[in-house]
Amino acid sequence: MRPNPIVLESELTTYPDKLLARWGDEAAKRKQADAPGLLDPYEGEYDFDAVVDRKDTNSLKFDFARERGVPEGLLPLWVADMDFPAPKPVLDRLEALSRHGIFGYTEAKEDYYAAVAGWFARRHGYEPKRQWLKKAPGVVFALAMAIRALTEPGEAVLIQTPVYYPFTGCCLDNDRVPVSSQLVLKDGRYEIDFDDFEKKLVEGRIRLFLLCNPHNPIGRVWTEEELKTMGELCLKHGCRIFSDEIHCDFVFPGHRHLVFGALAPELADLAIVATAPSKTFNLAGLQIANLFVANPDLKSAISQEIRRTGYSQLNAMGLLACQSSYERGEPWLDRLMAHLKGNLDYARDFIQKRLSPLKLIEPEGTYLLWLDCRALDLTPDELNRLILEKARLWLDDGPIFGAGGEGFQRINAACPRKTLSEALERLAFALA
Ligand SMILES: Cc1ncc(COP(=O)(O)O)c(C=O)c1O
Repeated sequence: MRPNPIVLESELTTYPDKLLARWGDEAAKRKQADAPGLLDPYEGEYDFDAVVDRKDTNSLKFDFARERGVPEGLLPLWVADMDFPAPKPVLDRLEALSRHGIFGYTEAKEDYYAAVAGWFARRHGYEPKRQWLKKAPGVVFALAMAIRALTEPGEAVLIQTPVYYPFTGCCLDNDRVPVSSQLVLKDGRYEIDFDDFEKKLVEGRIRLFLLCNPHNPIGRVWTEEELKTMGELCLKHGCRIFSDEIHCDFVFPGHRHLVFGALAPELADLAIVATAPSKTFNLAGLQIANLFVANPDLKSAISQEIRRTGYSQLNAMGLLACQSSYERGEPWLDRLMAHLKGNLDYARDFIQKRLSPLKLIEPEGTYLLWLDCRALDLTPDELNRLILEKARLWLDDGPIFGAGGEGFQRINAACPRKTLSEALERLAFALA
């Protein structure tokens, strides 16, 4: 066990810790007391290779095949949640709240904001001010709110396909027109065609750009130069930016996530930066996101749109899990990242050796593998059938990510090695 490098024991008097001290299980309290100064007394006990049965937990990934129109009994590696329990200190605190037993209206206090801001300062070198923070029940919810607050029906919104499908869906559902400046695959790496990007901004008189960084599904972690170029083009043409940074904590060695709001004050002024603990700590079902909006007019526009929906307080479990994760989840995340890097190395090797002619697009971030299956020369329908019927896998089919997704499949690698290995073996069987 290593000494706690970040939070002094004397400072751990925040709401989650007080809850544990009063309502926590005796064993959890003892564990905490036995490890003074430790951020996570369970560090070293996590086993990301343990297979946890998720069947019959109403899991979207495991329990909704029929409802979603795919055959039963497939191995699911589609929706982006992980097959791992959240960090133990987070579970202990959620349990303490449940033991208390009253789930009345709750709000966040200053220690919540300190936990969120502390995380971004420590992990990303970004220091958001207290007044920039706006809570929301999800990043996709916030994306829809931004579309409604910053554009009018019938207007175009800029996206970069292939991209996480709600980017298109939220535009269409709100009567906006998604316009894509398609990413260009060059020597196995996706790039931005900046001439096309600017042309689309101008031609579409675009006032809102939906940025995905790190980019799901293609795994790029955009560089400072790329981000600044996109930002400056938006500044030049009067376009705001919704920067979806939900995957920001999943970045592989050699790459660095840059928070869009940290690039330059004039760029921060254009942006809504959307973050969440939900991917990082596997809390998606608790529905919580944190937006950073430095520009007060922009913040008031999105806040008003959220208010219009009738949404006010977030759910108590989500707030508690978010704060506990940012206060206590760091050692767990460091171990998780080592596991995910191991999975990536394993998958890369397997694909090279056993899945020819398929190719992995090397991810710089996210836990998603973007698999280039174009060399199989199948129609989109044939490829999808091969995956579902022959490999008996439930993956995300490339075309759902929009133009440029044809011939690709997305595999969620946030699972025990055994699950990943089983999935890749099934693919090898289907290709044989
Ligand atoms: C890029 C991206 N944004 C947002 C989300 C979902 O966010 P939320 O559950 O907070 O709406 C996902 C989930 O896969 C995602 O990949």
